[in-house]
Amino acid sequence: AGATVVSDTKALWSSADILLKINPPTEAEANLLKRNAILIGLLNPFVNQDIIGKLSEKGVTAFALELIPRISRAQSMDVLSSQASIAGYKAVLIAAMASGKYFPMLTTAAGTIPPAKVLIIGAGVAGLQAIATARRLGAVVEAYDVRAEVREQVQSLGAKYVSVDIQEETATQEGYAKEVSKAAQEKIQQTLTEHVKKSDIVITTAQVPGKKAPRIITENMIAQMSAGSVIVDLAAEQGGNCAYSQPAKTVIQHGVTILGPVNVPASMPIHASQMYAKNISTFLKALLENGKDEIIQQSCVTRKKGEVNP
Ligand code: NAI
Repeated sequence: AGATVVSDTKALWSSADILLKINPPTEAEANLLKRNAILIGLLNPFVNQDIIGKLSEKGVTAFALELIPRISRAQSMDVLSSQASIAGYKAVLIAAMASGKYFPMLTTAAGTIPPAKVLIIGAGVAGLQAIATARRLGAVVEAYDVRAEVREQVQSLGAKYVSVDIQEETATQEGYAKEVSKAAQEKIQQTLTEHVKKSDIVITTAQVPGKKAPRIITENMIAQMSAGSVIVDLAAEQGGNCAYSQPAKTVIQHGVTILGPVNVPASMPIHASQMYAKNISTFLKALLENGKDEIIQQSCVTRKKGEVNP
């Protein structure tokens, strides 16, 4: 592609005018950056405040791709979507590998196999891709999301929407989930218990930006599941949607296998990289064309010495 491959990353960090990256820099890397350099990547700004402070102190102009607004015009730069979609797809394959059951219904000489029952919790980008993948494998799929407006999206993929009637605002203006009240949480848990206990596979993808992932699957729900069932918790690294789940570990409780895979897109590196590269290069092009665009302004976390996006 015309680039030079270098082995001295220190020299790279200290000479780059514009640095494109996947994960946040370490403190040592941030220290090497030139004053006025531009850094673009997934900076996890709500969590990595020390690094953001360091970048600001150095006068680096840093863009956190997580902060790109979720608007149609920005879809080709939306790293969260391209990577979450891979995670949702892969979560179903991970679940299928860990399950002792077929996903599709089969009528065979050795008897009839009923289709697997799959429940997806959180029907954002990862959840919708998980629904589509589980349906393609022939499972019967149900999905729940605290944002009731996903009902039609869930149904259009051939899944049933699990509805819980709660009388409060569940989404922010930007279309993200809001934390709900304790009373609403209890109501959701009551309904979900009924659906969790009859599922062979549960895949959880629920997130609230800038917050610990909501705890949705309780010990009590797991205790009521059949032995041999499988839970894949895609939020394990962000605190977990599921009791007992641990990042990068497989835990077995009450005969239920609970997986907490981390960095799932990296397990599908060819397409993860291809999509990430397209996202970041589209962003860079937009930045060079018009730095005043709202997409650029909203994703900018530090600019000039001491300036941090609140
Ligand atoms: P996310 O990764 O922040 O969360 C995943 C899902 O978990 C969301 O659907 C959320 O509603 C759900 N959730 C959170 N708390 C929950 C709870 N307690 N119980 C059940 N579900 C819970 O979200 P993601 O996938 O990044 O999407 C965020 C929003 O952005 C969505 O509205 C999506 O449709 C929208 N979007 C818009 C795009 C556009 O260009 N117009 C592109 C991509 C996403």
